[in-house]
Amino acid sequence: RTKKVGLIVGSLRENSFNRMIAAAIPELDDSIVYESISIADLPLYNEDIDHGDGPEPVQRFREAIKRVDGIIIVSPEYNSGIPGVLKNALDWASTPTKTAALRRKPVGLVGATPGVKGTILSQQQIRQTLEATQAFVLPFQKMYISQVMDKVDLERRLLTDEATRKYLKRYVQQFILWIDQVPSLD
Ligand code: FNR
Repeated sequence: RTKKVGLIVGSLRENSFNRMIAAAIPELDDSIVYESISIADLPLYNEDIDHGDGPEPVQRFREAIKRVDGIIIVSPEYNSGIPGVLKNALDWASTPTKTAALRRKPVGLVGATPGVKGTILSQQQIRQTLEATQAFVLPFQKMYISQVMDKVDLERRLLTDEATRKYLKRYVQQFILWIDQVPSLD
């Protein structure tokens, strides 16, 4: 069976740099199938509406995560941390605890910023959140993209920097190999 990886972007912005980076992934590695998983229509997390299968956008989001063999999150850093929209989405995917979509899900982290510190701090927080959900996060590789405005073609919304393309490709390939080493749910 061909592996499937879901791509989640932690920015809702249409011209998001992180969305451009996510869009480059399927063209860098076409050994598997990729699926974009949107977080844009999720309601704000509220336990009062988190019962049964939950609201319809939440159901679709959870099912999309359950269908794929792994997830790569491509996210910006806001105020030295995880963007609220992404935290909201991860919280929705963390319940109900025993059957949560993120439980035992292999996750890779990528982040891009116009700044020079490559989203280190937001990735730390995302990792911490994912550990609480019992997801597995690729432990031995990090993928930080700094000064991203110099690495893309803004008009065509493409990742053009050769070195970054090479690193990203290597990261994705490592992630795909690692998926097979993650203990399965059963
Ligand atoms: C930012 N930005 C930012 N960048 C960074 O490297 N560290 C940070 O702590 C922050 N903080 C921050 C807070 C808020 C509220 C905004 C709106 C932005 C800048 C951020 O990296 C930049 O806007 C990116 O372009 C956002 O990612 P997308 O939307 O282009 O993917």
